[in-house]
Amino acid sequence: MNPRRILLIVGGGIAAYKACELVRLIRKGGGEVTCVVTEGGQHFVTPMTLAALSEKPVHTTLWDLKNEAEMGHIQLSREADLVVVCPATADLMAKMAAGIADDLATTLLLATNKPVMAVPAMNVRMWEHPATRRNVARLRDDGVTVLEPDEGPMACGEYGAGRLPEPEAIWQAITRFGSAGGLAANPLAGQPDFAGENHRPLHGRHVLVTAGPTHEPIDPVRYIANRSSGKQGFAIAAAAAAAGAQVTLIAGPVHLETPPGVDRFDVESAVEMLDAVESALPTDIAIMVAAVADWRAAECAGQKIKKDGSGEVPPLSLALNPDILASVAASPARPRLLIGFAAETDDVVSHAQAKRLRKGADWIVANDVSGPPGNSVMGGDDNAVHLVTPDGVEDWPAMPKDRVAAALVERIAAHCMKDDA
Ligand code: CTP
Repeated sequence: MNPRRILLIVGGGIAAYKACELVRLIRKGGGEVTCVVTEGGQHFVTPMTLAALSEKPVHTTLWDLKNEAEMGHIQLSREADLVVVCPATADLMAKMAAGIADDLATTLLLATNKPVMAVPAMNVRMWEHPATRRNVARLRDDGVTVLEPDEGPMACGEYGAGRLPEPEAIWQAITRFGSAGGLAANPLAGQPDFAGENHRPLHGRHVLVTAGPTHEPIDPVRYIANRSSGKQGFAIAAAAAAAGAQVTLIAGPVHLETPPGVDRFDVESAVEMLDAVESALPTDIAIMVAAVADWRAAECAGQKIKKDGSGEVPPLSLALNPDILASVAASPARPRLLIGFAAETDDVVSHAQAKRLRKGADWIVANDVSGPPGNSVMGGDDNAVHLVTPDGVEDWPAMPKDRVAAALVERIAAHCMKDDA
């Protein structure tokens, strides 16, 4: 993340203590944090703790800002690149949604011209209450990024959705803003710039992403698989969510955290992935990043296949898996923009161009997966891709997978804007 200035508004909830860890993570990542604590927040975390961690004065009331003649509260709200409300209590979100400005935090939130991210934390019933649902919907409509809370046991003894996400996950959501915003300086990036007024260009769109490998069972303990890690697909899901889209992620077996704000469904095999994809349709956009196994065992043994002592190897016959991308392309619920990936080891671009036409995709993102096992794009952190569209081929330089994701999402946003016009 480029050094960024975060204005952190700490609301009054038991999860406020996690804001301290968030301050530490932002600073470790090269960011600067200025903290504002509400009156309620001060019951859970002291301004002195936040001042020590942020190494900056902490603001608590409208009236402690010097030079109010110079409108200190306006200045404070504008100096940041991103305003993060954490924890965002039900009360704070209700005030934000209604435009109430009766203390420093809510005044700053009304006065800011910068993107705002709210990280809710509250009791499950409060989270599920129609009033909170309305407020969250209103805030999202107003352009506020409201993260989904975690599910689990709560401080109050109940169980459900409403826990503050772990600081690491919040930090990742902040860096998504960072990488997307940083794209303005990237020659690959067109408009819009996510860090500006237009920071949620996919708001109102539903994006489907497939990611990871599939596992095709041979017997209860063995399967056919490939080296896909799922990192590129997860990064794309995260970037689309950061751009304001509703994101459905269908994931093969991978060990990755669900990106904030993404609805994830886990599957094992290609057939299960096809089912999940069909249930998720219709969507506006689909990005099929998964490395789907082309073949499965024609029959999956009910019991572990044993060596019979003869030295003979058991026959393994394969059946062709459904082509998920091609079947989505042919579906009556075909998304308006359908993007496939192509994993190639030779003639990368010409194979990708042929694949685009054969499978009926609008765009293909082609990558070269040659290279020794363990040291290739599959499983690695960087990717050099070629974007193949009806208009031609663009060669993108090697960059981290989250930058590829952010650049692709910018491209998608620009395409949608053109398409709408
Ligand atoms: N794909 C799919 N279903 C399959 C195989 C692939 O939906 N059964 C999708 C992938 O998600 C990707 C695109 O098709 O978006 C291309 O995948 P790739 O593995 O490169 O191509 P294959 O179809 O496997 O073609 P080939 O093995 O001939 O390269």
